[in-house]
Amino acid sequence: MENKIIDESKQGEALEIKSSETLPSNGKKLFLESYGCQMNFADSEIVASILIDKGYTTTTDYKEADLIFVNTCAIRENAESRVRQRLYDYKKVKRKNKDVLIGVLGCMAERLKHQFLEQEKLVDMVVGPDAYRDLPNLIAVAEDGQQAINVILSKEETYADISPVRLDHNGVSAFVSIMRGCDNMCSFCVVPFTRGRERSREPETIVRECREAFDKGYREVTLLGQNVNSYLWSGGGLKKENLTDEQRAISTTFAQLLEMVALINPDLRVRYSTSHPKDMGDDVLYTMAKYDNICKCIHLPVQSGNSDVLEKMNRGYTREWYLDRIAAIRRILPDASISTDIITGFCGETEAQHQDTLSLMEEVKYEFAYMFSYSERPKTLAERKYEDDVPSEIKSRRLTEIVDLQRKHSEIRTKEGLGKVFRVLVENVSKKSIEMMSGRNSQNTIVVFPKGNLKKGDYVNVLVTSCTSGTLIGECV
Ligand code: SAH
Ligand code: SF4
Ligand code: F3S
Repeated sequence: MENKIIDESKQGEALEIKSSETLPSNGKKLFLESYGCQMNFADSEIVASILIDKGYTTTTDYKEADLIFVNTCAIRENAESRVRQRLYDYKKVKRKNKDVLIGVLGCMAERLKHQFLEQEKLVDMVVGPDAYRDLPNLIAVAEDGQQAINVILSKEETYADISPVRLDHNGVSAFVSIMRGCDNMCSFCVVPFTRGRERSREPETIVRECREAFDKGYREVTLLGQNVNSYLWSGGGLKKENLTDEQRAISTTFAQLLEMVALINPDLRVRYSTSHPKDMGDDVLYTMAKYDNICKCIHLPVQSGNSDVLEKMNRGYTREWYLDRIAAIRRILPDASISTDIITGFCGETEAQHQDTLSLMEEVKYEFAYMFSYSERPKTLAERKYEDDVPSEIKSRRLTEIVDLQRKHSEIRTKEGLGKVFRVLVENVSKKSIEMMSGRNSQNTIVVFPKGNLKKGDYVNVLVTSCTSGTLIGECV
């Protein structure tokens, strides 16, 4: 919980591909570790799919791997330093066996390609997020003893036709990318530089992937994009900015896509992430209200509660606009939970502006929040234009105030669940006791209940009888 509150980017996780057993093996073992957001983890499933096709099997021990890949995140400085540390670990393996190949994938690729390949000679391959189809070719180049690099960003690539190999652990929830890249250019953010231009994936391929997941026993899909509300499919090759009014009218919007996925089966839960407040329209909220299987849970990153800071962040909305969106959610979806992201100590942030963030939090009382100190990123508008001038002690103190307030709000929100009955999707055996199982309700709160005859993927109604700060505990009814 602690970790989750401060930093959403996951710790490195090695992923094992179980289905590889059925394919002819090339005798080589792949170790694939991922950092960063859910989109990066979804990308690792594409990478796994491409390499399994080439006969690789996987291992969770990098010391026995022939091929070591790390899918990286560049969102904050500490995300990058963690990966760098791992590369030194891998390098030790290579010193013992020079045939081992090491590759950096994902969001750090573009920025650090020269450093990793040429200056520090830490890796053999550097592969950007739009170049994964080129992996077999790049591996062959590296096997020949040459540096292999492809960091070209594409305007079209969505990997729409590649069926990802599910690398999750519970076999119940699947993540499905519906778009790639980002055009928003928030001034603090490196994503538009690491992942390139925004592009949407063809809706039929998304629906097909979700249906396949359902047929394999998955009961929840999360549709992923940096700004899902700006999803728009207008046919292959057509760019959003060039559309005529008529083309726009026949395009598929996010609300329509959400409905198409919800209609696959009432027992398939649908979630999505992330919404952008500037594009969050009522159409999406009404679609959510119409279908019970679209989870009533909205992640709406605010970043700051002060309109001047928001303008400097280039977020495209004001405090008032944001609060109007919250009001719309409360009106149309009274049961919805709302979570957020907050950055503290952005360039020039004053004490009064910090207080505005705290007061906005008081107004909304989020269920949950990811909270960060501002970390300056190369190439971004903020790096070029503004000074990172809030001293780190002040950033830490403000972050502590924000985290403490959020903890209070999370507790209040969790307690509101007492005495209520929730439909819960059974996901795992509880960490605390093998007699109990855990799952989540539509609002995304963890619920723990007696095991009985339940198994993963079942739905159960739970009456909440007690709770901890973030978990509901109850009995099946
Ligand atoms: N596309 C999503 C956010 C993706 S990044 C959105 O726009 O909401 C996830 C979160 O990381 C952001 O919401 C922001 O709170 C945080 N973040 C991004 N860049 C950051 C930086 N330079 N310093 C600190 N936090 C940052
Ligand atoms: Fe970054 Fe903004 Fe795009 Fe989110 S919307 S990924 S914060 S540029
Ligand atoms: Fe990190 Fe790239 Fe995601 S920078 S947060 S892995 S889009």
